[in-house]
Amino acid sequence: MSHAPIDQLVSKRASPLTGAISIPGDKSISHRSLIFGSLAIGTTRVRGLLEGSDVMSTKDALVALGVEINRDNDGLWHIVGVGLNGMISPVVPLDLGNSGTGARLLMGVVAGQKITATFCGDASLSTRPMARITDPLTKMGANITSREGGLLPVTIQGTRSLMAANHCSKIASAQIKSAILLAGLNARGTTIVSEPSASRDHSESMLRHFGASVSQEVAEDKSYRVELADGAKLRAADVIVPSDPSSAAFAIVAALTTPGSDIILCGIGMNPLRTGLITTLIEMGGNITKSNHRIEGGEAVADLRVKYSQLHGITVPPDRAASMIDEYPILSVAAASASGTTEMLGIAELRVKETDRIEVMADGLISCGVKVYFDEDSMRVTNSTVNGGVTILAKHDHRIAMSFLTLGMNSKAPITVEGCATIETSFPGFATAMNRLGASIADGISI
Ligand code: S3P
Repeated sequence: MSHAPIDQLVSKRASPLTGAISIPGDKSISHRSLIFGSLAIGTTRVRGLLEGSDVMSTKDALVALGVEINRDNDGLWHIVGVGLNGMISPVVPLDLGNSGTGARLLMGVVAGQKITATFCGDASLSTRPMARITDPLTKMGANITSREGGLLPVTIQGTRSLMAANHCSKIASAQIKSAILLAGLNARGTTIVSEPSASRDHSESMLRHFGASVSQEVAEDKSYRVELADGAKLRAADVIVPSDPSSAAFAIVAALTTPGSDIILCGIGMNPLRTGLITTLIEMGGNITKSNHRIEGGEAVADLRVKYSQLHGITVPPDRAASMIDEYPILSVAAASASGTTEMLGIAELRVKETDRIEVMADGLISCGVKVYFDEDSMRVTNSTVNGGVTILAKHDHRIAMSFLTLGMNSKAPITVEGCATIETSFPGFATAMNRLGASIADGISI
């Protein structure tokens, strides 16, 4: 029997959502725990790893690079690190599937070792810009070729004589920053990366957790700078992966917008560089309470209680974008039910995610009857009756699929989403978990 995930799902009006939902492990931290564990000396154990297809693509790539990685029956992952220079050239191209994080961070890893690897991916990843990574790595000394336009496939011939970068990124991007820091582990000199505002700092935290010396600072104008000292060595360290705030976002918005809802989410990552959506939803009038704040494995976590709320539109400032970059699709769903207009500014990076998220969200919302205005780097969503009754194409984008399934929970007619198999990349079991709370998401064929 095949266990392929169901590709077409239909979301109908939900009952009030109640009870507790368990959210899978954080995708960013999961990728990094495998990567840093592979570069360390000793065996790293990881609890709570996200076992979605994106992270499994990174795991498979690391195995192809010569790392031994196993999962025991209790769900604990063991990574036998090979040190900073112990990888081997893979005999086949590294297929990172849908995962931008896996591809880009591993490019930084390969650049600093005496190995050669070719990177490829699925239809979505093959259209995403890679020059933002390959340009700085080339400047450091790696020999890199890519398809025209800086696209995959990319082949990297690494070297043990990289020069440390002093890279000033125009974009606040954790993927750019992390690729350079990873290459910097094998470079001569102090690696410095600055960005216009701070992107998620999981790599910095994990580098420290594994024994490297890293300093980071935010200037008065909110620009950010990180420095990785020369000569770092990584020692194996155990990692506990918190639940992913970006996956929790769908349940949070579902509860806020479905009348009568009251749900609990435990152990959600609360790194301040990831919680822009929660800040925004609270400003919009969302009843979200945080409790039991604690630090687990070097990352802040808390439990959340979310109750149905009558939201109102606000302007989300551009300097908040980095802290909620993956959450604009689901915010635009919340915005459709909020009174007035919600403005999202400074979001041009959404155009180069798994799909062009400004255009795909706007088109889908408009087809459901929602009033949307958008331009190159902003979107405005005005309170509307959500008619639904349409089929949305997710276009290889998990967050688009989950956003429209969430919208269907309060639309007049059901919303069908094609391309739901991609939800496996970040939130395996999404439909089942939401249905346990009171949602009505069914296989499109059996409806
Ligand atoms: C990620 C960084 C973000 C985010 C992606 C995961 C990471 O991309 O969109 O889903 O784990 O570093 P950018 O840093 O390119 O904005």
